[in-house]
Amino acid sequence: MRAAYVDRYGPPDSVVVTEVPTPEPRAGEVVVRVEAVAVTSGDARLRSGRFPRGFGALARLGVGIRGPRARILGGALSGRVERVAPDVTAFAPGDEIAGMTGARLRGHAEFVAAPASKFTGKPEQVGHAEAAGALFGGSTALHFLRKAGVAAGRTVLVNGASGAVGSSAVQLAAHFGATVTAVASRRNHDLVTRLGAHRAVDYTATPVTTLDDRFDIVFDAVGNISRAEGLRLLTPDGTLVLAVADLLDTVRARGRVLAGPAPERPADFAFLLDLVATGALDPLTEIVGDLDAVREAHRRIDTGRKTGNLVVLPHA
Ligand SMILES: NC(=O)c1ccc[n+]([C@@H]2O[C@H](COP(=O)([O-])OP(=O)(O)OC[C@H]3O[C@@H](n4cnc5c(N)ncnc54)[C@H](OP(=O)(O)O)[C@@H]3O)[C@@H](O)[C@H]2O)c1
Repeated sequence: MRAAYVDRYGPPDSVVVTEVPTPEPRAGEVVVRVEAVAVTSGDARLRSGRFPRGFGALARLGVGIRGPRARILGGALSGRVERVAPDVTAFAPGDEIAGMTGARLRGHAEFVAAPASKFTGKPEQVGHAEAAGALFGGSTALHFLRKAGVAAGRTVLVNGASGAVGSSAVQLAAHFGATVTAVASRRNHDLVTRLGAHRAVDYTATPVTTLDDRFDIVFDAVGNISRAEGLRLLTPDGTLVLAVADLLDTVRARGRVLAGPAPERPADFAFLLDLVATGALDPLTEIVGDLDAVREAHRRIDTGRKTGNLVVLPHA
């Protein structure tokens, strides 16, 4: 089968599409024919070897010294079950499922083998591309917003409101009844307003840290708000979400400061896909091409200006 492969940390051009063996299911696993898979900021970090401050050596020990140990990146995907291990009862060949494959990734390929426990059934009304686009930013935003106590009547500031995580945070916070202030460049203001933001702030004119307002939740999906600046923007019982935190802020995150990796939970995927099915969540999915377009998607992510979610269709 074909797969997009990364040997060494490097620029987008270090992604090459090559032939690799089609995977077999091991105990507990399904083999999925990948119909759509996202190319995410997480994939771009693993391709480039660029990690938040302080994580460099630690991250490389964990994910690979000279290049990512998972040579085939891509974790958020949607597809059709091709084969199942004899002990798998949750799914059968032909089922349409969506999920995230965890640290092993391997989704930028025509087929992937992964534990059945990583997937949920894809609603019929949701296309594969939309499903693949909804999971990465959606599950991150959902986890942190819930943990921060999002609820009707609360005020939420989303920094980086047009990206994968931010656009999900805006929509989910609005869905839960919160009043949302979205920070994005001017060109994305119509978009974030359509997604449910009550107010849009242009960070090129008004740096977010200079705002006089106070919020119940400050959700930083960019990584340019320090812990002290974020805490200053909070109401007395507010919560600061640092979706991008350096090592120090990650280690000392507790109480009203949340950081660290968001979990990948099939129950959350099912919740998000139901919202997509009802039209309450727009994954802002853009199909970039087939596996040969993975490199182009990495280029787009590296600009730092990507809007929403990029997906590729391995069988297109
Ligand atoms: N903790 C976790 O579990 C977790 C999970 C997923 C992602 N993350 C991290 O979260 C971060 C965001 O991920 P993502 O996938 O959402 O990234 P992304 O989609 O690549 O974000 C791009 C967006 O960032 C916006 N942006 C850039 N500079 C900005 C600024 N100074 N102020 C406000 N917005 C700005 C851009 O909007 P404009 O074009 O309007 O500038 C663009 O729409 C990444 O660093 C990723 O590693 C963490």
